[in-house]
Amino acid sequence: MTRSPEMAAFLDASRDALRSSCTGAPLAAAERVISRLSYMGVARPGVDRLPVCDWIASALSRVQPERAPLGRAFGALEGQLRWRRRASASESEHPFWNGHANAVILGPGGLEDRLDLWIGATVMAPGVRYVDHDHAPEEVYLSLTPGEWWNSAMDWTDPGPAGCIYNPPGIAHAMRSGDGPFLALWYLPL
Ligand SMILES: [Fe+2]
Repeated sequence: MTRSPEMAAFLDASRDALRSSCTGAPLAAAERVISRLSYMGVARPGVDRLPVCDWIASALSRVQPERAPLGRAFGALEGQLRWRRRASASESEHPFWNGHANAVILGPGGLEDRLDLWIGATVMAPGVRYVDHDHAPEEVYLSLTPGEWWNSAMDWTDPGPAGCIYNPPGIAHAMRSGDGPFLALWYLPL
């Protein structure tokens, strides 16, 4: 089996963006993800969309030059993804329920199903705060739009189009959009 051209181009752009945006612990985590990309998981095609996905086109039109190759590559792939709400989301919390979606690209339940890493995307409407959460694997985020991240060791921070956010293993963390839509990619070695 071989990857689709869209997936292959997205992973190449991810590798380049991670290496140019990260240093230290986040770069080490990114390299753990990159080192696993030569192995291919099981392709599981299937598309799901949510109304909040209508913000993706607007978000992609705002990608800054530093992230343009990654934005283009993600834009070519995103129509193939299964976008879902976070499993813990409650319909009674309207802004979050209606205002976010996640898609696993590589990883458990993803377009390429596998157990050794997670690569995925989150889209949020303007003015939405993602719920606090934590997980055992460390995590690197790359933003495609302005947005802010928080963790229990860091105040709210916008990493900008040339930076990254790193969450050490197990730390409580969250993110939020501002006046515009939010689109970001996450990379976790499992
Ligand atoms: Fe996370």
